[in-house]
Amino acid sequence: MREVILSYPGDEALADALASARDAARGALHVRAFPDGESHVRVDAEVLDRVVTLVCSLHRPDVRMVPLALAASTARDLGASGIYLVAPYLPYMRQDARFVPGEGVSSRYVARWLDGLVDGVVTVDPHLHRVASLGELFHKPTQAVSAAGAIARWVRGLSREVVIVGPDAESAQWAQALARELDVPWLVMEKVRRGDRDVCVQAQGLERASGRLPILIDDIISTGRTMAQAAAALVEAGCERPVAVGVHAVFADDAVALLHQAGCAQVVTCDTIPHATNAIALSETIALAYDAFMRSR
Ligand code: R5P
Repeated sequence: MREVILSYPGDEALADALASARDAARGALHVRAFPDGESHVRVDAEVLDRVVTLVCSLHRPDVRMVPLALAASTARDLGASGIYLVAPYLPYMRQDARFVPGEGVSSRYVARWLDGLVDGVVTVDPHLHRVASLGELFHKPTQAVSAAGAIARWVRGLSREVVIVGPDAESAQWAQALARELDVPWLVMEKVRRGDRDVCVQAQGLERASGRLPILIDDIISTGRTMAQAAAALVEAGCERPVAVGVHAVFADDAVALLHQAGCAQVVTCDTIPHATNAIALSETIALAYDAFMRSR
């Protein structure tokens, strides 16, 4: 057995699915903090001459990325012949331009940093807006897995006539992909962001929502302001209370309560980030894509 899958604490279930897809050995990363806050990482597996995959979703990125970097360097040091990363959530992708003078383009810097650590990255629905593909950010091979099929299966389970609604222009790619899977109408609203917690969303093309259950879809729900404003606009326009679906349950603040207050009938997410709203499992989808990615290496 030449491959070994190492799970970051909390990512064991996905690591099991990947190991089973590749018939690979399983190991773990033990991570703890020293009293001064520095991270201590131990690789719990034999990695000499083996291809190692680190499984680590990168929510709370400023806490998890340093231990991940230490883990990758440790595995390399211990003789791993290749190191890959499966990170269901890839952070920092929204800062994809210099919006105000003096700030950095973090998406590029984080991609370069990961490029220096691992030999390839598999992730789910990365926030790609001003760049068309991960290939424009990374030099190493990457695979962006789509959650649309799994979300579509969940929506079909509602047994309702639905319309897919993206809350802003950036969500068009996810709204369109889901609508295609389901073969239903879709529309995108217009958002103006004035600050981290200050957005304004306006509805348009709502005639397509008539008589249908609106499924609001976005890649990331963070403060929930985007989804909440979109839900409120739908309800105000006389639509049925929407179901809010997020791929990545970042959920800063008390976003779930905000979404319900705004009129959402239900809030569900994929399990790329552990959260009480996780209702759509992606292990199988990620494992299939990961297996294909590794076969192509
Ligand atoms: C950006 O366009 C993303 O796709 C999301 O719409 C955004 O991150 C949501 O942020 P929040 O929940 O804080 O409004």
